[in-house]
Amino acid sequence: MRGIILAGGSGTRLYPLTKVMSKQLLPVYDKPMIYYPLSTLMLAGIQDILLISTPEDLPRFRELLGDGGQFGIRLSYAEQPKPEGIAQAFLIGEDFIGGEPCALILGDNIFYGGWFSSNLQEAITSAESGYATIFGCYVRDPERFGVMELNSEYQVLSVEEKPEKPKSHYAVTGLYFYDGRVCELAKQLQPSSRGELEITGLNQLYLREGRLKAQVLGRGFAWMDAGTVASLMEAAVFVETVQNRQGVVVSAPEEIAYYAGWIDKAKLLESAALYGKSPYGEHLCRVAEDRFLR
Ligand code: DAU
Repeated sequence: MRGIILAGGSGTRLYPLTKVMSKQLLPVYDKPMIYYPLSTLMLAGIQDILLISTPEDLPRFRELLGDGGQFGIRLSYAEQPKPEGIAQAFLIGEDFIGGEPCALILGDNIFYGGWFSSNLQEAITSAESGYATIFGCYVRDPERFGVMELNSEYQVLSVEEKPEKPKSHYAVTGLYFYDGRVCELAKQLQPSSRGELEITGLNQLYLREGRLKAQVLGRGFAWMDAGTVASLMEAAVFVETVQNRQGVVVSAPEEIAYYAGWIDKAKLLESAALYGKSPYGEHLCRVAEDRFLR
């Protein structure tokens, strides 16, 4: 299973914050935004990950994340010169994917909640048997998102991109799992009226084949896309609240790698040292010393 993080775009909704800085490198409370989607793919057990961003921003991601060794994964990088659509990730990433099943996550999407690992495992099993999976989350303002319509058995009836009259309140979140044919299907897409290769168009191709599954993230689950000033702030406050109340760290890739057995204690402590005296570094030390509840 391969994974792609799409972390490009112009971020104009966050200007001037993103005038000289990639949105996905902005802080969400105590860590850069990119740590959150990276953690989600790692939680799914994915160790081969491609990060796609703009030619200007890619060097900064490389500086921050390196070859992924610190996280026990293999990270590679590719450029998206212009934001020509989310589904373009599968054209840019074709060689990297190499005909394997692949997950895609948007670099501004944050997921947090119980049982998430089992949701992810189910999506992987489906991808390995020829299906795509999208994740739905109930929202107040579905017209801002891709929207899925489901029947009472949670089968997908339709998916639409930012419809004026949404058929449900279930937004399609920015996390997608596809089978090994995803690049071939992405090649069939034509640019939409706004000039983009739409991820919703790709999902519609799977739906037409009867191969699109949906999982609904329940009421206790938090999903945020930190693409506006308000949602960025909300995400930061959410992470602060959970971390301070529960004494956990939301989305620490080194911690996930350690518990998955991808890095050993020495490597974890080495990584912790790179974070100096920050609370994040101290947390990794606590994990290494087993003074922390999973
Ligand atoms: O967050 C979930 C939503 O993401 C879904 O419900 C929608 O179906 C999906 O189209 C997308 O909607 P957005 O309006 O959030 O898309 P946006 O164009 O803002 O792109 C989302 C992220 O992907 C953003 O952080 C920038 C990045 N991106 C986007 C495009 C189009 C790229 O890196 N390259 C691109 O070409």
